[in-house]
Order: sequence, then C-alpha cells, then structure tokens
Amino acid sequence: MGNCFGVRIKAESPFHSTPSGGNSKNVSRDRNGYSGSSSRVSAASVPPTPRSEGEILQSTNVKSFTFNELRSATRNFRPDSVLGEGGFGSVFKGWIDEHTFAAVKPGTGIVIAVKRLNHDGLQGHKEWLAEVNYLGQLYHPNLVKLLGYCLEDEHRLLVYEFMSRGSLENHLFRRGVYFQPLSWSIRVKVALGAARGLAFLHSAETKVIYRDFKASNVLLDSNYNAKLSDFGLAKDGPTGDKSHVSTRVMGTYGYAAPEYLATGHLTTKSDVYSFGVVLLELLSGRRAVDKNRPSGEHNLVEWAKPFLMNKRKIFRVLDPRLEGQYSLAGAQKAAALAIQCLWSEPKFRPAMDEVVAALEDIQAAKDTARSSRGQEGARSHNHGHNHGGGGVRAFRRPSFQGAAANGRVAYPRPSGSPLYA
Ligand SMILES: Nc1ncnc2c1ncn2[C@@H]1O[C@H](COP(=O)(O)OP(=O)(O)OP(=O)(O)O)[C@@H](O)[C@H]1O
Ligand SMILES: [Mg+2]
Repeated sequence: MGNCFGVRIKAESPFHSTPSGGNSKNVSRDRNGYSGSSSRVSAASVPPTPRSEGEILQSTNVKSFTFNELRSATRNFRPDSVLGEGGFGSVFKGWIDEHTFAAVKPGTGIVIAVKRLNHDGLQGHKEWLAEVNYLGQLYHPNLVKLLGYCLEDEHRLLVYEFMSRGSLENHLFRRGVYFQPLSWSIRVKVALGAARGLAFLHSAETKVIYRDFKASNVLLDSNYNAKLSDFGLAKDGPTGDKSHVSTRVMGTYGYAAPEYLATGHLTTKSDVYSFGVVLLELLSGRRAVDKNRPSGEHNLVEWAKPFLMNKRKIFRVLDPRLEGQYSLAGAQKAAALAIQCLWSEPKFRPAMDEVVAALEDIQAAKDTARSSRGQEGARSHNHGHNHGGGGVRAFRRPSFQGAAANGRVAYPRPSGSPLYA
C-alpha cells in the first residue's frame, strides 16, 4: 500500500514448494482487444499451471516489452505521470499504439499503467512472476487486464490496462475534487464487481486464493466497474481432499483473516473475510486500520461488529455521507452480509458466489435502483425524505451521526489526481 495505513505482512514464495501443479486454471485468453470487455469466461480444461520462470513466460499470452519501449511510453517515467505508489514500486501512466503496442505521443493510442519494481530482491521478483503467471492466464471482466511485462537485466515491469478512476482506496479515503464520496448504489456496484472477481477466482475451474484483497487492489474503470489487480500473493487453492494450503503469513494487517494470521492455513474463506473488511470499509467510509481514530476505533472490524449485530445500531457504522441514500432493508441486508463474511469461524462464512447472490439482491431491490441514477442523481435525491411510490423509504441516520463526520480525518489529495481525468 502506498501509505502508512496498510502494513504489509511479510513474506514467502507465492508458489507451491512442490511442482505438483495439476490445477486447471483456464480461462479465455482473448486479450487482443484492449478495450473489449467481454463477459465471456471460458472454463475448459488447460494444461497444468506452469511453474518455472521459463514456462510461465513462454506460456503467457501477453507481450514482452523492452525497457526502452516502456521508457518511451511513459516519457522516461516522468514523475508527473505517477499514478500511485505501492509496496512493489511506482505506477506510471503511458501511451501505446493499440495495434502495434509501440510507444506513442500522450493523448494518442491507448492509455496504459506501467508498474515498475523499484527494489531488488527475491520477493519482488517472485511477486512480479506470480502476477505474470496468474494474470497471464486468467481472464474475467472483474480482473484487471495484464497487457505485457518487461524482464530485462535488473528491470521488472508490468503493463496493465489503464483504470481511469484509480483505486477504490482513493475514492473511499481521499478528499478532493477528483474523489467525491461514492453514492450508495455505486458502492453496491463496486462490491458486486469485486465479489464477482473473487467468486471467479474461487470457482472449481480456477481455484485460486487471492490472499491480498483490500481497497487499494480494487481498481475502477470509468463506469465504476471494479477489477482486481495485484496477484503477487495469489496462490493455487488446495487440491485433492486437502482443506487448506499451508503458507507463511502474508497479506495486509486489518484485512487478513484471524485464523490465517494464527495458523498460516489459507482457504478461500480467508478471502471471504478480507472481502467482509472491504465491504465494511464501503459501508462505513472508514479504513480497516486507522490509528488517527480515537482509541477503541483503530480496528474497524472490532469497533463495528457490536453495532452490526444489533439491527437498530447498524446506522452508527454507516458512512454519514450516505445519509438518505439507502433503505432500511438495504442497509440491514448489507450489514448482515458483512457480519457473515467476518465470522471468526471460517466455515460459517458464505462462499463468494453466495456473497455475489446477496449483493445482486441488494442491487436489484427497488430502493437501491432508485438511487442508481449516477452520483449526482443519488446526491440530489437524498435528503432523508420518503421517496413515495413503491413504499420504500430512504433511511436517514439519526442526527447524532453528523458529529462523526466532522471529526473525520482529512486525507491528502494524491498528487497524481489529474492523471485520472
Ligand atoms: N491499472 C491501473 N490503472 C490506474 N491506476 C493504477 C493501476 N494500477 C495501479 N494504479 C494506481 O497505483 C496505485 C499503486 O498501486 P500498487 O498496486 O502498486 O500499490 P497498492 O495496491 O497501493 O499497495 P500494495 O503494494 O500493498 O498492493 C494504486 O492504488 C492505483 O491508484
Ligand atoms: Mg495493489
């Protein structure tokens, strides 16, 4: 994460130690059309996951760029084209020709995001390779498209489709003209898109555990379609009759499931827990971990759980900026879903396809549809009045909640904001 709020937990190989493979991870490799976001997801059988670096690079269906090509595409990695910074390195905006992928002048061709590993070391290389391995094979509308990579001398870069609205983290927690508060309907849409991405990863034909689900790894396109990025920590799920994969603990504090932190046993239910944390961030507008809050409120899950367990108190958790945009029923369903994902006991957590179904339900509900006219529509229609018609009442939080908004910490606007225009 590019700020002090997310602490990455260290570290080990994202790959199995034994080259058993055998996992079908197929998916259509229809990557030629950069902008075509096909909803087709193929799941026919494919050869076992490649393991060695040579196999991965040979089998991937993405372009191998030279360092010079990416230097030209990003205008020599100009500081003013930095889109963001993370643990891996900086992400730059660049331009390439749609057909030849050759560098072109800014404003022509297609926009790309170029992530450049900024430190040496085995871990960085392993994460780079894991990204090429997984995103080079997996294709789904809710996974960011990897267009190519560069491996030259000490240089390690990754080239992605440009996600014009940047990360969910920026939208939830940064302030400024480029990051207006997201409406209720957009938050539900984003949660649903991300849930579909995870459900796809967990599906029988893919069987991947993502392991680093958090708001900064959910990227948004111009229509707020959510796509998962960063497969550096992803792992093949357990095979045969095994219930979990044993790993050294990696991920991000605040998002990692308690049993995974305690035992290193990784299951798809660890991702479900992390999804619950992000759902809670979406509902509350609060960070998973925020040391700037009063004591007792630093850890979002610990603070929110008691309120979420009581139907009449869930409004203490909901983001004051959502006031009037949700119905009582919609808010209660979303809160119940968050609680289920966050159960301490993994077996009680729903599977991601059940989460998708629950969110589809919330999205389809009349009350949510009413506020899905876009950001402006949602805001101008919402002042806690009864919308009438269908008898669904937009719910206004009790007025004491307003005070919470005033005490909120203002986060700096990212220097790269205009790049998202
Ligand atoms: N494809 C992309 N299109 C547009 N912006 C991007 C893209 N990929 C990354 N970014 C921006 O760059 C930022 C840094 O991304 P990166 O994945 O390197 O770090 P992070 O997710 O913040 O932290 P971590 O290293 O813990 O994953 C993102 O938060 C986002 O704002
Ligand atoms: Mg990331």
